[in-house]
Amino acid sequence: MRTAGNLTIIAVAALASGALAADAPKATYGFGSTPTDAELARFFSPLPDGRGLPPGSGSVLEGKSVYQQQCAACHGENLQGGSGGDRLIGGRGSLVNDDPKKPPVKTIESYWPYATTLFDYVKRAMPLTAPDSLTNDQVYAVTAYILEQAKIVPEDAIMNAQTLAKVQMPNRDGFVPDRRPERFPAAAQAPHQSLAIAPAAK
Ligand code: HEC
Repeated sequence: MRTAGNLTIIAVAALASGALAADAPKATYGFGSTPTDAELARFFSPLPDGRGLPPGSGSVLEGKSVYQQQCAACHGENLQGGSGGDRLIGGRGSLVNDDPKKPPVKTIESYWPYATTLFDYVKRAMPLTAPDSLTNDQVYAVTAYILEQAKIVPEDAIMNAQTLAKVQMPNRDGFVPDRRPERFPAAAQAPHQSLAIAPAAK
C-alpha cells in the first residue's frame, strides 16, 4: 500500500515537470527525417481568412506575364482550358439549374468559395511539371490575373495577404453548412496549431 502510494506521487511529480515526456524514447518508423527549421519555415497553410498567407504581392499585369509563360500552354490563352489543364474561369451561375442538358461548369469563378485557396493550390501544385517553383510574388500576381479574368477583382488589383483574404468569391454562399456537431477544437490563432486535429473525444 505504502509503496504504491509513493509510486503514484513520483509519477505525478514526473508528469508535472515534463520529465516523462522528455525521457521517453522517441518512436521512429525507420524512414523520413526530422524537418529542419529552414524546411519548417517554408511550410504554410493559409486559412480562408488569410491567416498563414506568406508575405509578398503581385499585380494583374505581372500575373498576365507569369500566366502566359507558365500556365497558358495547358490552361489556354483565355483560361478556358485546353491541352491538359482545366478551364479556370467562366460558368458562373451554372451550378444550380433545372435543365439536365446544361451540365454545371465548375471553375474557380463558379465554384471555389475562398480566394486564398487559389494561392495555396497554385503555390503547391502548379505549374504541373514544376510545382513550388514560383516565388510568392509570382503566385500572388498570377492569382490576381486569374481573379481579374474571372471579373472578380479590377484590373488595377494588387494581391497580397490582406487583399486576397478580402476577396469575396461569387460562390461564397453556395455551400450548405454541415449541421453535424463540430468534433474538432476551434481553429487556434496560429495556423500551424489549427492543423493539429486532436482525436475526437469518446
Ligand atoms: C503541364 C500542364 C500544366 C501547366 C503548365 C499548369 N497547369 Fe494548372 N493544372 C493542370 C492540370 C492537369 C490540372 C488538374 C490537376 C488535378 O486535377 O489534379 C491543373 C489544375 C489547376 C488548377 C485547379 C483548377 C480546378 O478548378 O480544380 C489551377 C487553379 C491551376 N491549375 C492553375 C495553374 C497556374 C496558375 C499555372 C501557371 C503558374 C498552371 N496551372 C500551370 C495542368 C497544368
